[in-house]
Amino acid sequence: MSTRSFLRFALNGAIHEVTGSDASMMLADWLRKRLYLTGTKIVCAEGDCGACTVLRAVPGTGRSRELRFEPINACITMLAQVDGAHLVSVEALRHDSSLSPIQEAMVQKHGSQCGYCTPGFVMALCGLFEKCKEKPDVQTVKNHLTGNLCRCTGYTPIVEAALSIDPETVPALGERFVTTPLIKALKETQSQAIDITAPQGRILAPVRLSDVSTLLKKYPEASLLASGTDLGVQLNKGKRELGDIISLHLIPELYQSTQKGSVYHFGAKVSLEEVRRRCAKGIPEFSTLLDVFASPQIKNSGTLVGNIANASPIGDTLPFLLVADARVAIAKKTGKRELPMTELFQGYRKLALKPGEWISSVSFRAPQKSEYLRLYKAATRKDLDISSVGAAFLFDLKPNRKDGRLVIQAARLALGGVAAIPLRMTRVEAFLKDKILDHDLVETAQAMLQEDITPLSDLRGSSAYRRILVQGFFQQYCDEIMQSREVQHAAFHS
Ligand SMILES: Cc1cc2nc3c(=O)[nH]c(=O)nc-3n(C[C@H](O)[C@H](O)[C@H](O)COP(=O)(O)OP(=O)(O)OC[C@H]3O[C@@H](n4cnc5c(N)ncnc54)[C@H](O)[C@@H]3O)c2cc1C
Ligand code: FES
Ligand code: FES
Repeated sequence: MSTRSFLRFALNGAIHEVTGSDASMMLADWLRKRLYLTGTKIVCAEGDCGACTVLRAVPGTGRSRELRFEPINACITMLAQVDGAHLVSVEALRHDSSLSPIQEAMVQKHGSQCGYCTPGFVMALCGLFEKCKEKPDVQTVKNHLTGNLCRCTGYTPIVEAALSIDPETVPALGERFVTTPLIKALKETQSQAIDITAPQGRILAPVRLSDVSTLLKKYPEASLLASGTDLGVQLNKGKRELGDIISLHLIPELYQSTQKGSVYHFGAKVSLEEVRRRCAKGIPEFSTLLDVFASPQIKNSGTLVGNIANASPIGDTLPFLLVADARVAIAKKTGKRELPMTELFQGYRKLALKPGEWISSVSFRAPQKSEYLRLYKAATRKDLDISSVGAAFLFDLKPNRKDGRLVIQAARLALGGVAAIPLRMTRVEAFLKDKILDHDLVETAQAMLQEDITPLSDLRGSSAYRRILVQGFFQQYCDEIMQSREVQHAAFHS
């Protein structure tokens, strides 16, 4: 198996190779410090403001020239993550010495004042017009710009600029920048593993799934790199030393995203945006939750498995996965084992993984017709914010033969942000089983829920506030069922 000691990617239509210590740089730093492409700004360096937005298309996730360019945050993207990818930075948008239609609209509508955020907005809009071939409406534009902050304009001129653009006038980036020789040059390296020695540590990227465990055994302190939206922030903020890195980006199996019947399966490199898209029809509640997960830039990059492996008690996807009977595939040196999500979290940010083990995929199922699922997230602001409390509630309902009142055949309840790990509320679930859903039952279950949680007070909310949120979410859920004819109808006809 051949190994290479360089990263290779395309930027604005030209191939670049990076070796040695540069290979451990963040993309935004590399663009600014090595190529002097200072249009990509760095403001927060933690994925929050979008000033560093560039576009990335990854071969293998689209078809040759139909590659989809998506916005990502260059400040928290390690260069290893763009190995094999096509990138476009703001400098390349001008064409034949004219501004692009997006830049021109920003000028015409006064979408820029101090200008510091402007390249980021332009690139984010570029990403929107890459996928949106018809004029977007106001809400689509606003949703797409949740990852970009501006201190000067008040946003209205930027939104007006976006609305004034005729999508047909925006050139497709693939046609401008992706050529057959470029694709060939990138493909050539896809089957070559990476081993780069940099002063900060080794950068390794195997091409075979089985090699990850071997490397983890050899370099036990190494960090696995899925997409780095957690890791990149920790590195930038000095909360973690770089050390050895094992990147998963060259392993084809990890990009698998499938749905067979009601069962969904996502490999460790599948982005949250792909999960959001795939679940939109079959599990709309989960897809809607992902609408308010971070920003488009983060979702285009960050992975579902990364959210699990990060093991934060407030990871947004975890309460849902806990009630959706999710199972993770744990890869080891020889073969793999499966573990229910309920057994994965062992303590604060501690997973039930042995040395050399890692998570290669996650599977879960959509609710059945008789199962009523609701997901809740409370955060200080709606977009781009981490939860104070997250909740997932699922009752399997059936009407009582005698009087038609609803019986809870089974309950699955999960909470995030109320203990050191995301919790399944098993004692309350057992209590609710086979009981008729009424106000007295809800009151007793509420009291039990409060007994079983131990929320902390921190900057996202006091313990008392978190307790009130849990109570409010559960009340809302039960009231919705008891008051909704639709739910009752579904239970009768399931
Ligand atoms: C601006 C911003 C907003 C965010 N908003 C949200 C939000 O709204 N909700 C939320 O829940 N999170 C949020 N996050 C956190 C983050 O985006 C998610 O946790 C994301 O899912 C992480 O995925 P990743 O692929 O980037 O993981 P990485 O950063 O690559 O990895 C995360 C951790 O898991 C380990 N790891 C990665 N893959 C594996 C594997 N296969 N097996 C074992 N270990 C592994 C890594 O070593 C690392 O310690 C936000 C982050 C940022 C920067
Ligand atoms: S600099 Fe703020 S998101 Fe990158
Ligand atoms: S124009 Fe100044 S920050 Fe947006």
